[in-house]
Amino acid sequence: MHCTYDIEKTYRENYESGPNLPPDVGSVPPTPTKRFMGFELNSRLGIAAGLLLNSKWIAAYSRLGYDLLTYKTVRRSYRPCYPLPNWVFVTDDGALKGPIYRSHRGHQTDHQITSAVCFGMPSMAPEVWRKDVAVARNALSSGQRLIVSVVATPEEGWGITEIAEDFARCALWAKEAGADIVEANLSCPNVCTAEGSIYLDPDFSHEVAATLRERISNTPLLLKIGYFEEPDGLAEFLNRIDGVVDGVTMVNGITRPVLELDGRPVFGPSYEKAGVLGRAIHPASVQSVAFAREVILRDQLDLEILAVGGAALVDDIEDFFQAGAGAVLMGSSPMYRPLLAIEAKQAHPRW
Ligand SMILES: Cc1cc2nc3c(=O)[nH]c(=O)nc-3n(C[C@H](O)[C@H](O)[C@H](O)COP(=O)(O)O)c2cc1C
Repeated sequence: MHCTYDIEKTYRENYESGPNLPPDVGSVPPTPTKRFMGFELNSRLGIAAGLLLNSKWIAAYSRLGYDLLTYKTVRRSYRPCYPLPNWVFVTDDGALKGPIYRSHRGHQTDHQITSAVCFGMPSMAPEVWRKDVAVARNALSSGQRLIVSVVATPEEGWGITEIAEDFARCALWAKEAGADIVEANLSCPNVCTAEGSIYLDPDFSHEVAATLRERISNTPLLLKIGYFEEPDGLAEFLNRIDGVVDGVTMVNGITRPVLELDGRPVFGPSYEKAGVLGRAIHPASVQSVAFAREVILRDQLDLEILAVGGAALVDDIEDFFQAGAGAVLMGSSPMYRPLLAIEAKQAHPRW
């Protein structure tokens, strides 16, 4: 298996020297133009916030045929990455709760991979990322669009208003730098402070969305959300943010304790819980997308769904389109299956 991100190396090393692409990538088949969120796109296939660390990663994956490319979440100020390990393979136990255990990639074929990440949403300083977002935007071809993911960095004593303002400041910087779409990350499985679970509070989410909307005016705006255990919570959330944002990106990794076989937390005692990604979360992600679609139709909401969660095969992408997604994003699989967009375009040029 060829990995474009070296999980043995630090985030910084991967930022500087990645991605490590396979030598022969073939060519991207031409596809008819589609309209999505007001844009003309080569396809409605893309990469979610995470793997694309900077403009070099964006440029490389745009050449591999991914057309909605998300720049990994950025902040108002520099934030280092948590110490290694940041990304490990785990064994899919078919569950969504309780501990999940580290494995070695030899035990899994590439499309069955489940992994867990714990980065802590690192960010370069704004002087760095604002320039680099512009470089990333310029690297795209026609029919491709750049999403920039932003998050707030709450300080002691901040309330909802200050946090919403912080999101809005980053969103405006992203827009000025060339983002076609801004995504506010309301969920992070490995961050314990307020910015990690805003999506579970519909009023808080609405306030952030409204502040962002006011600040970036008509730039398309998405909210990235995590998994709702209770479907009613998802329905309430969607109704609360309808009319303010253009869509939702769902879902983020599902939070679980990630342990070594001997019970020690893989990411260290401070970060026992982390985001589980890949095969293990695919059925639940498809179910959430289908439910969100049902709510959107039932309550006549004006929201797009960008689906993410465990898509590593063409069939997985199809699951999401059938569930009602407007676009499908891959989170972790383009690291070990970088040619997935090419495969999908060969099989389904109309996606
Ligand atoms: C290396 C890596 C880093 C990630 N960092 C972020 C992030 O900064 N912001 C975010 O919203 N999601 C982040 N994610 C989560 C993905 O966007 C996605 O929601 C998750 O991986 C589930 O999709 P998957 O099962 O296709 O991997 C990250 C994922 C990976 C693989």
